[in-house]
Amino acid sequence: MFTQSLTHLQETHLLRTLHRTESEQDAEVTIAGKTVILFSSNNYLGLANHPKLKEAAIAAIKQYGFGAGASRLLSGTMSLHERLETRLASFAQTAAALTFSSGYHANIGLIQTLTQELQPHCLVLADRACHASLIDAIRLTKARFKVYQHQNTEQLERLLSTQAVTDAKNILVVTEGVFSMDGDIAPLPQLLTCAKKCSATLLVDDAHGTGVMGRTGRGTIEHFDLETKIPIRMGTLGKALGCMGGFVAGPRELIQLLINRARSFIYTTAPPPAIAAAALAALSILEAEPERRDQLWQNRDYMLSNLKSLGYNTMHTESPILPILIGDPSRTLQFSQQLFEHGIYAPAIRPPTIPRGTSRLRISIMATHQQAQLDYALDVFRNVGRSLGIIS
Ligand SMILES: Cc1ncc(COP(=O)(O)O)c(C=O)c1O
Repeated sequence: MFTQSLTHLQETHLLRTLHRTESEQDAEVTIAGKTVILFSSNNYLGLANHPKLKEAAIAAIKQYGFGAGASRLLSGTMSLHERLETRLASFAQTAAALTFSSGYHANIGLIQTLTQELQPHCLVLADRACHASLIDAIRLTKARFKVYQHQNTEQLERLLSTQAVTDAKNILVVTEGVFSMDGDIAPLPQLLTCAKKCSATLLVDDAHGTGVMGRTGRGTIEHFDLETKIPIRMGTLGKALGCMGGFVAGPRELIQLLINRARSFIYTTAPPPAIAAAALAALSILEAEPERRDQLWQNRDYMLSNLKSLGYNTMHTESPILPILIGDPSRTLQFSQQLFEHGIYAPAIRPPTIPRGTSRLRISIMATHQQAQLDYALDVFRNVGRSLGIIS
């Protein structure tokens, strides 16, 4: 048992292993004894190691203890959870918000609750590149489910005019704001127009847009200036905000229903209050230090234009997630391993995370990368890429 599966994964270059970080989190970290420049973290703004987040968490631990001790509906709701939810609602410019233990939990609970409410005859249409947490969430429901090709609003429109869809009474269209493995941005205005034509609900998972996109970092919905038009969104606290957890922001009635129905909210211990305290601190920094986001985008533009000039295929990225398309998993793994030997940590992304034939490196840029680190990385990308024949 087990060995055969593991051998198969190994032979097909799809075996995954854990990489242990031994230093504090920074743009440079020690992984398995080697100091490397980190290009794999979603800690886009460098907040995970910010003194104010640490101080807020420590103060909360001193005041409340560590674990919440019970689920939110028992005695696990603490004033810090409620303060964070009020703050997130104002951040998302919605009437209310609810936090979950992770973004994964948030998607599971939100989609379960929405589809239950939209039954009978509920149909979910999702972008093919949607994150596993969205796909898992949809599969756990009783709703019918179809995917449309990545970013293909014409196909979505065609699907929305078919008989199966006409028969469905209630339709949920699901997309990511910033796609986690491609780095491109969903065409929210067009998706909204499509959804409106058949009174569908549009749900945006903005895990990678939160803190990164939009004039003030409120996300992809702010980027498109659609805050009054897209009433429901999901985000995470674990990426640009440097904490952990997920949230749903939306109308008050939806939030009340989630509290009553979302199984991934109800049947699990509440997140430690220290996490809520740290997330509150992160939101304050986001507001007070817009220069962090500016630096992130400056670093991103610099890396992207240079990687492109080197001849890499960076797909259609529009965000600080920079994919380098290779195709074959073993070649991608070899590329990643050689980069690591030269002090660059950029992991290989292989199926089933992305479709077959599209294995890639996924480079994520942080505001805290220093110019010298970016320049060093570009030198390594040039030399290793040439030696492997990926670029000429
Ligand atoms: C698009 C997207 N949605 C949801 C999640 C889940 O968020 P979390 O890491 O907070 O569970 C992720 C995380 O990888 C993601 O990329």
